Amino acid sequence: MFKYSQYGEKRGEVWQWPTHMRLSRIVLMVLIILILTPLFTHFYLSNIERNIGTITHSAHSHVDLPDEFIEMNDADLKVHIEELLRIKGSVLSELRDMESKRQKLLAEIQSYMKSIEELKQELVHQQTNLNKLKISVEQAQVAQREALEQNTPDLALPIRLLPENVMEERLLPSTAESKKCRMFSCFDHSRCSLTSGFPVYLYEPDEFRILQKGWDVDGFLKTTLKQALGYNPHLTNDPKEACIYLVLIGEALKNSESVSSNSTDPVPSVDSTALRKLKYWGGDGRNHVLLNLSRRDLTIHTGNIFKSIDTGRAIIVQSTFTYDSFRPGFDLIVTPVLGPPGGDVWQECSAMLPARRKYLLTFQGEMKSDSPTSVERSELDTFVIEHLKRLLNTGTSDKFLFEFGCSLANEDNSNVGPEDWALCGTDGSRKMILKESTFVLIFAPGSELISTSLLQARLYEALRSGAIPVILGGDQIRLAYDEVLHWRRAVIFLPKARITELHFLLRTIPDEDILLMRRQSRLIWEKYLASVQSTVDTIVAVLRDRLNIPPLPVDTVAATSVFNETFQPLFVSTPVEGEQEESLGPIEPPFDSPSYRRNYSLILTQGHELWNDWGDPFRLYPALPTDPWLPSDAKFMGSGRGFRPIGQGQGGAGKEFSEALGGNQPREQFTVLLLTYEREQVLLDSIARLRGLPYLHSVVVVWNSPKPPSAELKWPDIGAPLHVVNAARNSLNNRFLPLDNLKTEAVLSVDDDAHLRHDEILFGFRVWREHRHRIVGFPGRYHAWDINTQNSWLYNSNYSCELSMVLTGAAFLHRHYLHLYWKWLPQAIRDKVDEYMNCEDIAMNFLVSHITRQPPVKVTSRWTFRCPGCPQSLSEDDTHFQERHKCINFFSQVFGYNPLLNTQYRADSILFKTRIPHDKQKCFKFI
Ligand SMILES: *[C@@H]1O[C@H](CO)[C@@H](O)[C@H](O)[C@H]1NC(C)=O
Ligand SMILES: *[C@@H]1O[C@H](CO)[C@@H](O)[C@H](O)[C@H]1NC(C)=O
Ligand SMILES: *[C@@H]1O[C@H](CO)[C@@H](O)[C@H](O)[C@H]1NC(C)=O
Ligand SMILES: *[C@@H]1O[C@H](CO)[C@@H](O)[C@H](O)[C@H]1NC(C)=O
Ligand SMILES: *[C@@H]1O[C@H](CO)[C@@H](O)[C@H](O)[C@H]1NC(C)=O
Repeated sequence: MFKYSQYGEKRGEVWQWPTHMRLSRIVLMVLIILILTPLFTHFYLSNIERNIGTITHSAHSHVDLPDEFIEMNDADLKVHIEELLRIKGSVLSELRDMESKRQKLLAEIQSYMKSIEELKQELVHQQTNLNKLKISVEQAQVAQREALEQNTPDLALPIRLLPENVMEERLLPSTAESKKCRMFSCFDHSRCSLTSGFPVYLYEPDEFRILQKGWDVDGFLKTTLKQALGYNPHLTNDPKEACIYLVLIGEALKNSESVSSNSTDPVPSVDSTALRKLKYWGGDGRNHVLLNLSRRDLTIHTGNIFKSIDTGRAIIVQSTFTYDSFRPGFDLIVTPVLGPPGGDVWQECSAMLPARRKYLLTFQGEMKSDSPTSVERSELDTFVIEHLKRLLNTGTSDKFLFEFGCSLANEDNSNVGPEDWALCGTDGSRKMILKESTFVLIFAPGSELISTSLLQARLYEALRSGAIPVILGGDQIRLAYDEVLHWRRAVIFLPKARITELHFLLRTIPDEDILLMRRQSRLIWEKYLASVQSTVDTIVAVLRDRLNIPPLPVDTVAATSVFNETFQPLFVSTPVEGEQEESLGPIEPPFDSPSYRRNYSLILTQGHELWNDWGDPFRLYPALPTDPWLPSDAKFMGSGRGFRPIGQGQGGAGKEFSEALGGNQPREQFTVLLLTYEREQVLLDSIARLRGLPYLHSVVVVWNSPKPPSAELKWPDIGAPLHVVNAARNSLNNRFLPLDNLKTEAVLSVDDDAHLRHDEILFGFRVWREHRHRIVGFPGRYHAWDINTQNSWLYNSNYSCELSMVLTGAAFLHRHYLHLYWKWLPQAIRDKVDEYMNCEDIAMNFLVSHITRQPPVKVTSRWTFRCPGCPQSLSEDDTHFQERHKCINFFSQVFGYNPLLNTQYRADSILFKTRIPHDKQKCFKFI
């Protein structure tokens, strides 16, 4: 509510004579009467008093009596005095009458003054309303004009062609031809239209066995892959509509049959007739994807599983390829599946800090004596090893750890695999060393190999532990998914000949870049490599990405209303005390933010960012906080639809500002998202205060209590739609439910007891429009280093000149982050929020700062938003703070670092505190 006193402003500076002429005349008359009456009476009375006084006085002292009285006898005198006393009495009573009349008149004046005041306010109010209506009408006219101009029919989706047959038979290409397969020559695009949604069919691994007798696909892989694909929205059961067909081939393991028969080959291979007999093989295996995943970080088998057979036009997905066998842009290199089936993986990762660890560089491995390499290259390798050994003794303060002979090597595994290098140490011992390594050396396998399981497994391990991989021979190899992932941001590729420059190079890399690379490593590892689920999703997504088919839209949470046919809310129209006297913008009917406008252009224009930066390449979102802006002249040169430039583009001060949204984005509205728990009156008051708020699309209340609202509740009619949504259970995480009835990109998240003025809300909205990827809001908080323990963070809400969080009890944020809160945040964080019934706002700040690497934006002077008369909210007590300290430290552990960033500025409106000419208005009166 407006509290004018707080700004030292007085109400009613302008008198409006003409309109109040009649009233004023009365007032004038009354004033005259009031002034004259006391004067008269005073004069009259004082005369009489003087007379009487003289008389009584003289009665006691004959000496001084005037002649007139001396001549009178006593009786006459008495009569005279009585006469005078009577006069005095009557005058006095007359006087009393007049006094009471005066009082009455005064009271009347006061009431008139009051009604003047009220009328004046009413006038201002009506004028504001009129202004608002005028602007609203103007805006509606512009919108209508736009709608008419837009009179082009919406593009219709092209008809999706479905083949008659599942896969008609075609001739197998010659082996030479299939060796040269590329997407354009071997892939059937007609099965994968742009709008198909990229359906994927999986051959049931138990039903279709395509390995030679005696071999079986690894059981764990079989079940987890099926399960993971089940969670992938592209999976289809209809082979007719499928775009690609997945065949699981490896990892191949010997089965019980092979133990009894000695005939089994020591190397597994594919049964080519079984392959040919796959139901939809279609003669040449086009659009088939052969998955030869490996689950162990060592290649148990040497040789090529596909050596003896022709895989036709099928795409091969595995970790080991020779230069000869790899068909660039067609086959896919993946990492071995080393992780759990799915779920939270953060526990596996090492902390990101400190940037520099105990060892600058480590290596554990052994060069194989019988490696099938040329003498020439062996010499280079020998030189490399000699150089590395010399590094150990250079007397630098940098620590190295190199193990070239594996005392620890597992005898079964150490000397198999196609590469020159064998593995050293057990998984656990390597993990210990990697945790202490800033960089870790990985040798490229032999020169004929473009990738091996071992190489990719070493990479996987290094990324997990945050040791930055330095691939020696990096120019010879290719890493997993390199058609979409920018590996240079996480890995150092170095030709072997550069070995002498290695130490120098590593020394020059500053902490910032080390941490940047480590953060990128972790992003890649967590999103694309960590679990069976991420591997499956990534394989499907890369193939889809190749074809420029957009991902499927992200799931929203269906909003179920607490109301139903039998239980309807009662609406009342309550006028709100102290309504706004500032015209802040047009009142318009709700309109949704445009959504899914970039279905087909997003991958084309920002595909790489989606994979490597802020994005989620697995799902399509209605809009992204980072969607591009038009240049400011475009809106006047053909792209102006929806834009509401200030003063039609001329600009202007407060008046023009209040009439148009301006800015770099088309017009839009915001949704108020309220989480409430059993504080009905507080909630209703909060909603009522939103009445008449410009740019408000709708109000969504998440009813966090199992008890439905009481039937007698009178819901305020605020002129915008109100949705009251059932929450499945009482959880603070519900504050960020990605509900399907949130129709705007801008979401104002507020506590049910937050007191925000309209001008504050609208200013916050305008600022958010320029910082769409950040949290923009009012209550600032920060994370402070605990200087007593020197090892943890403290949550701090004191007034301070630096902040790092803006609480979501009163903040704007992009709807996109609600999805990410549920999809991207590890479950452990949401569990912690439920455990403490606290910290959801801290979690959101962590998430957004982690993605954007920017601090939130604080607007206006308000620091805190508790309502004065409300019952004590639960956030007051000490345990609340204790929990919040713990949350910050726990979340930092989950993220591997503390993503919060400090900021030292806040946003106020442009002409705030600027001296401006009388004929100009400020942008906002008070902020
Ligand atoms: C398999 O090999 C074992 C020993 O190597 C031999 O005793 C056995 O007779 C062989 N079985 C067959 C079916 O050849
Ligand atoms: C695929 O099979 C072959 C032969 O069994 C093997 O060499 C290769 O490493 C396997 N796995 C992967 C992931 O490449
Ligand atoms: C409507 O909602 C009320 C309160 O939640 C519930 O008691 C009632 O059973 C519901 N009626 C129907 C028809 O769903
Ligand atoms: C974009 O995708 C969304 C979600 O699938 C869909 O509703 C919309 O119609 C699509 N737009 C176009 C132009 O295809
Ligand atoms: C906040 O400030 C008060 C007064 O300066 C101080 O006593 C208190 O310890 C501070 N709280 C925190 C959490 O720093």
